[in-house]
Amino acid sequence: MAGLHGKKIILGISGGIAAYKCAELTRRLKEQGAQVRVVMTNGAKAFITPLTMQAVSGEPVSDDLLDPAAEAAMGHIELAKWADLILIAPASADVIARVAHGFANDLLSTLVLATDAPVALAPAMNQQMYKAPATQTNLDLLNTRGFLLWGPNAGDQACGDVGPGRMKEPHELLHEIQQHFQPSAQPLAGISVCITAGPTREALDPVRYITNHSSGKMGFALAKAAADLGAKVDLIAGPVQLPTPANVTRVNVQSACEMYKAALEQAQQSDIFIGCAAVADYRAADVQSQKIKKSSDTLSIELVKNPDIITEVAALTSKRPYTIGFAAETQDVAQYAKDKLKRKNLDLICANNVAIQGQGFNADENALTIYWQDGEEDLPLAAKSTLAQTLIAFIYQKYQQTT
Ligand code: PMT
Repeated sequence: MAGLHGKKIILGISGGIAAYKCAELTRRLKEQGAQVRVVMTNGAKAFITPLTMQAVSGEPVSDDLLDPAAEAAMGHIELAKWADLILIAPASADVIARVAHGFANDLLSTLVLATDAPVALAPAMNQQMYKAPATQTNLDLLNTRGFLLWGPNAGDQACGDVGPGRMKEPHELLHEIQQHFQPSAQPLAGISVCITAGPTREALDPVRYITNHSSGKMGFALAKAAADLGAKVDLIAGPVQLPTPANVTRVNVQSACEMYKAALEQAQQSDIFIGCAAVADYRAADVQSQKIKKSSDTLSIELVKNPDIITEVAALTSKRPYTIGFAAETQDVAQYAKDKLKRKNLDLICANNVAIQGQGFNADENALTIYWQDGEEDLPLAAKSTLAQTLIAFIYQKYQQTT
């Protein structure tokens, strides 16, 4: 099937060991009928030769903004207008920073400024560079501006480190491109998904509150993955500083009681409900209207139980959505998760061991074991974005078996 017939794609290659995979990616794109023009940065040429890319793409490779011969053939503005999509793969930390800040000091960054085509980036770099606040801020900025971010995957890295920063494989990038050009092929079109994410914040007085370490990253990644597959997504978010993924409707809440109200309103209009939020189990019995003063050495605060949101959703007798919970555990993970699956009457529960450093709360990666009544499935450590794609596909497959 030539699913990309006639599509004009600029493949921008920046400097990184994953550049060698671009020959394979180009071959696959051509097999699908796409026209591929390759643009290389100076760094890219240290990892793969322009001659190789010219041979596999069947087109001249562009690498210089100020090359008179190249400008006489297809100038950079013409090239920017030609593209239906620009994919930068691998996108190094440097190229991500330059694109985020509007630099135009080489051909690739100039094309990004000069095009009105969508621009996708497939980040690839050392895991520590990927996690660096500067890189994360740049990626957030690109995300809010509507750039498409594909990956990275997590795993063994060329430098010997392990973590997020591996470029998506050529077949995965091909899949992203196909999804991009064929939104009608989105399998979750017509399905509505309600997701809770982040912590809740339980006030004690006007200046203090009880909360937990949830960053919202897992829930937001799920919202993005579901929306990317065409679902109508309602995201009920506790207090977190994350940009709203494209095509997702967000409701911000603070406390468990607010989340409960918003979730119960939305759940009955949803086909699937995913409780990823770390909801505070207790709140202050009386929220003080004035700041609590240091009048003694000890202080006792009476707490009362919050409503259990997911239990109430799963107990709905009319319009009950397919209901998935999460279990954040530090010990006896399987046993506690299975117990919650049963006690809360859930269809699936996703257990994460939050005692392991580098996964779970506030990390960029996670590992899950999914339990259901008569089975279980491990989803190994991966970037939350990748894990969310796998989990949403899994949930949808299970949901379909019930309809
Ligand atoms: O946000 P991140 O930093 O990315 O971290 C992700 C995460 C670790 C928060 C996430 O993967 C996760 O495990 N979320 C659930 C955390 C949790 O509160 O688990 P729990 O075992 O306490 O609750 C079990 C289930 O009941 C959850 O689906 C929870 O949303 C739900 N619940 C709990 C209490 C309550 N009052 N109402 C609820 O709906």
